[in-house]
Amino acid sequence: MKILVTGGAGYIGSHMVKTLGEKGHDIVVYDNISTGHKDSVLYGRLVIADLADIGALDRLFREESFDAVLHFAAHIVVDESVENPIKYYKNNFSNALNLIEACVRHNVDKFIFSSTAAVYGIPEKDSVSEDTPMLPINPYGASKLMVEQALKDISRSSALRYVSLRYFNVAGADPLSRIGQKYMDATHLITVSLRAALGLRDQLNIFGTDYDTPDGTCIRDYIHVDDLIDAHMLALDYLSSGGGSRVFNCGYGHGYSVREVVDKVKEVTGRDFKAIETGRREGDPPSLVADSSRIKKELGWRPSHDDLEYIIRTAWEWEKKLFNAQGSQT
Ligand code: UFG
Repeated sequence: MKILVTGGAGYIGSHMVKTLGEKGHDIVVYDNISTGHKDSVLYGRLVIADLADIGALDRLFREESFDAVLHFAAHIVVDESVENPIKYYKNNFSNALNLIEACVRHNVDKFIFSSTAAVYGIPEKDSVSEDTPMLPINPYGASKLMVEQALKDISRSSALRYVSLRYFNVAGADPLSRIGQKYMDATHLITVSLRAALGLRDQLNIFGTDYDTPDGTCIRDYIHVDDLIDAHMLALDYLSSGGGSRVFNCGYGHGYSVREVVDKVKEVTGRDFKAIETGRREGDPPSLVADSSRIKKELGWRPSHDDLEYIIRTAWEWEKKLFNAQGSQT
């Protein structure tokens, strides 16, 4: 198939391109390289352009006849979305709308959207199904929810069919360490912990130890990026065989506390680092774990890497390679 991958130079998008390329698909990556990297694109043609550029999008859709579009390009830092909501509504919502409009105008009828567990806000129950009320508590989650809403409405008035995948906590890297999280200002727990283990950060802050959880720290459902990519491949097969629009959670269905993750990082890396207990970070739900029964049942998703140690080990190998290559200490 001829497939457009927006954000294909970024962390998750580049893993998608890897898998699509390995399966022999014809790929065009569309990325403005604001947080992505050219050398993360292992297959296909890279078009460096912005989704705000409707002219560039239109030219590309006229040049190429896409069978499907996978939309990863987005800003993802929750704190930043609170400080600068316009940036998030513009890039995550308005630019997504430009892309969806191009699909409708050029008769591309299959669309896969990177959504997020942040659409749920602070859910009442720990195990979150797709029917849990969506009450985002920050502009990041709201901007993603707005795209889901737009897709719902647009799919009713056009031939477009979509799958929205609501990601829980994506982590880990390519087992061959060809690609991984390259973002220098990463805020995610596993990446920050590994950079502390490498000595690139003085310490890791544990944000809150007084939550109503067994050890007082927050619980999250960490999913290996390659399992998430498998979910996309299944979604693509599903839409290709005529499936209608659907929304699926992507998580393993069980979680780990911040302390458990930090302990596992120390064990896997064999390095100690300072983990300092600090106050809560605003907007963190105590526990967020996917009920992923729908995607297992409807798409037959069977994760292969439901193992925190594997997730951390692949990310650790990647981080070591990344910082060695840049001449930093390891
Ligand atoms: N944490 C720390 N110290 C850190 C970083 C994180 O204690 O330095 C804690 C957080 O407080 C949280 C947990 O580790 O309890 C996980 O935090 P992350 O920042 O790694 O991830 P989030 O759960 O905040 O965010 C993830 C996705 C977002 C998505 C959100 C949905 O990365 O894109 O889930 O709630 F919006």
